[in-house]
Amino acid sequence: MSNSLAGRDLLSIEDLSKAEIELILDQAAQLEEQCQKQPKLDLLNGRILATLFYEPSTRTRLSFESAMHRLGGDVLSSASAAKTSSAAKGETLADAARVISGYAHLIVQRHPEILSAQQAAEGATVPVINAGDGSHEHPTQALLDLYTIQKERGQIDGLHIAMVGDLRYGRTVHSLSKALAHWDVTLSLISPPALQMPPLLAHKLKQKITVNETEDLSAVMAACDALYVTRIQRERFKDPADYDAVKDSYVITRELVESTNPEITIMHPLPRVNEIATDVDDLPGAAYFRQADNGVWARMALMALILDAVE
Ligand code: NCD
Repeated sequence: MSNSLAGRDLLSIEDLSKAEIELILDQAAQLEEQCQKQPKLDLLNGRILATLFYEPSTRTRLSFESAMHRLGGDVLSSASAAKTSSAAKGETLADAARVISGYAHLIVQRHPEILSAQQAAEGATVPVINAGDGSHEHPTQALLDLYTIQKERGQIDGLHIAMVGDLRYGRTVHSLSKALAHWDVTLSLISPPALQMPPLLAHKLKQKITVNETEDLSAVMAACDALYVTRIQRERFKDPADYDAVKDSYVITRELVESTNPEITIMHPLPRVNEIATDVDDLPGAAYFRQADNGVWARMALMALILDAVE
């Protein structure tokens, strides 16, 4: 019997039920374990992934590609698609995705516009995975974030999780907060007033879980289990002066961690600019590089399920 993810797109984290997210997390754990024994599997032999990136990326694209290689599949990579693909000639995302569907069994796309993944999916005849559509969503980051929380803290239920920084434009926190709302968690949201979580999303979250919105970082750090730090998304600001006004709003220093909560788990989707001091990196709770590693397992699980190679 095929799994419920077979042949599906992943455009928003809301496309997945809690049970489907749990299936992906369980599969990620199995694949991580298998790869410790056998670095390359053959689950997706003969399958081709196309990565189409219209925006900069290091971790997302390379971890998807690493994941596909480890599953035994092949990869077609368009890393600067805005410049080097026919988008530069005016081709629509739907047409491009329709054509690429003839060359690959799965498309992973990142693009600066909100709902660009939906546009690609309208043209594609193979599944499309959203690897970030502007400031909207980044569902596969949410999967690896949940996987990381589970690994670092042993469980998701019962945790108090805080998100700090650019909650307005940060697509990772949009997808992760929606996913966390399936569990019994408390969510604290810390940002300057100009970068608060979009009101509609905050409202939706409050209907499902306890949400506190505040500007007081150290008080929340003392009380929470995990702190998810984000970069201020400079590329989303129309006026550079507005970016300059908020760019140094919150900086996590070693002293702040040690004086408020030395046990805290610190996450960040990366890249960081200056929001976590580098001397935090060797604290035991600094999980962000382990989090980036987890992208491979979560993405292997997702692709193996969508391409119906596991159950
Ligand atoms: C994030 C993104 O692209 O949204 N990076 C990532 O995928 N790990 C976060 C960011 O760029 O700040």
